[in-house]
This record gives sequence, C-alpha cells and structure tokens, in this order.
Amino acid sequence: MDVYGLLGNPVGHSLSPPMHEAAYDELGLEARYVTFEPDEDDIDDAIRGADALGIAGLNVTIPFKQDALEIVAPEDLATRIGAVNTIDFSGSGPPTGYNTDAVGALRALRDHDVDLEGSRAVVVGAGGAGRAVSFGLADAGATVAIANRTESKAHALADEVSRATGHGLGGMQRLVADADVLVNATSVGMDSAETPVPADALHDELTVLDAVYTPIETRLLRDAAAAGATTIDGAWMLLYQGVEAFEIWTGRDAPVDVMNSALRSRL
Ligand code: ATR
Repeated sequence: MDVYGLLGNPVGHSLSPPMHEAAYDELGLEARYVTFEPDEDDIDDAIRGADALGIAGLNVTIPFKQDALEIVAPEDLATRIGAVNTIDFSGSGPPTGYNTDAVGALRALRDHDVDLEGSRAVVVGAGGAGRAVSFGLADAGATVAIANRTESKAHALADEVSRATGHGLGGMQRLVADADVLVNATSVGMDSAETPVPADALHDELTVLDAVYTPIETRLLRDAAAAGATTIDGAWMLLYQGVEAFEIWTGRDAPVDVMNSALRSRL
C-alpha cells in the first residue's frame, strides 16, 4: 500500500484526496491519499517523519510551500519560484521537491490548444500563484507582462523572470490589447463578483485562464466569454497540478478524464 498525502493548514476542504484516489481506482493501484494538518512550527518534523515512515509522496499547500523548499532537494523551477508543492520520497537521497503549479497552468493552456512559444502573456498577480505562472510561461517561451496591485512587487518579479516586464493594474487595457494569453493569479473573484480586469479590455483573440475556481465561472471568465475569448476555468489548473504530481510519483500517465470528473463532481 502506497501512502500519498497533502500537508497544509487548513486542508479540510481539499479536493485532492478524491481526485487522486479516483486515479488509483482507475489504474488498480493499491494506494491511499490522506490529508495532514501539522502545526506551523512542525513542518520540518512532518516532512522528515513522512520520509522515515515510507510515505511515497506529499503535496504541500498553504502555509508550508516556502518552508518545504528548505527541507527537500528542490528542482530548478521550484527553486526559482521559491515554493515546493510536491515532494517525491522515492529516491535514495533526500526527497525531491517540485512545483507542479507552474506546469499545471501550462498543461491547462496546452490542453486548450494554446501555443505558448512566442506568445504574449499577461499575468495578473505577483504572489505565490503569480510567481509560479510567470516562471512557467517564460520557460515555455512566452513574453510575460506581470501586472500587480502593488506595482513594486510586479517589477521585482519581472527582474527575476526572463523576457518579463512589471506593471501596475492601471495600464491593463493596453497590456491586454496586445496579448494572446491572460492569467488571473490573484484571489480577486474568489467567492465574489469582482474582476481584476475590466470587461472592455477583453477581446476575441485572447485565451483567459482564471486560477480562481470558486465559483467555477468567475466574473472574469463570464466577461471573457462575452468578448469571444477562449476561457479556461481554475479547475483545469487544479486538475493538472494534481495530474503532474501523480505522474511524478507513479511514473505512469494519469487518467486525466477520471481525475477531472472526480474533481468537477465536487465543485
Ligand atoms: P497566492 O499564493 O494565492 O498567489 P498571495 O501570495 O497572498 O496569494 O498573493 C495574492 C495576490 O493577489 C497578490 O498579487 C495580491 O496583490 P498585492 O501584491 O498587491 O497584495 C493580489 N490581490 C489580492 N487581493 C487583491 C485585490 N483586491 N485587488 C488586486 N489584487 C489583489
């Protein structure tokens, strides 16, 4: 029996257990996915303890993603992002840390036929999600304009990301007019009718990915659909970060449709 899990606090409402267990059932794997909620001071002991107990893999979420980076051997992308959300304990050395949030966003876009090489992307947000998406898009060959409420954070992030520029939220119209891809990596729109991008900035040559998935159809996505844009909801990003983790841990192709159904039936 392989044990996988999620480390976070809180993790009570996580959709990862049903999503991963649906994949184990589909492929006939003897595995379980459980949630762990250590105290903030105990993250180091929790990860080392998981390793000692033979846990096969862990996802890591708020507030532990940055701490985890210091405890495991991180991949280059996770180091640049500054956060680990997936730990693989299968090697003989120290556990390896990955950031599948970045790849999750890229796979969500590619799944909707977006060609990122040479594309122009606008990322709204320069927090944890904004960092992951910006590094991911740049690695995939996009030019990235990062727009953030606190403009200095956008400039600081743009200095770290190749071919990126930093902006405030004021010039959104002009930035989006030239863009192929728009990603909302802020929490704006979560359980609210707000949007980080004015509706009249959206257009029909744009693909819009919203990292927010509650509600599944945010105001931004509604406005984008009305403008004729291609829309990708936040469940796709959630799905593909899990798909990527599953594939790292098991070395097998994930049953994406089964995981998608398990996730969406609970949203
Ligand atoms: P996460 O890890 O989910 O990205 P975070 O690191 O706290 O969370 O970042 C939240 C992001 O949402 C930031 O880019 C934040 O902008 P600031 O850097 O200016 O705080 C953005 N954000 C949150 N509330 C916002 C709002 N009401 N309007 C615009 N941006 C907002």
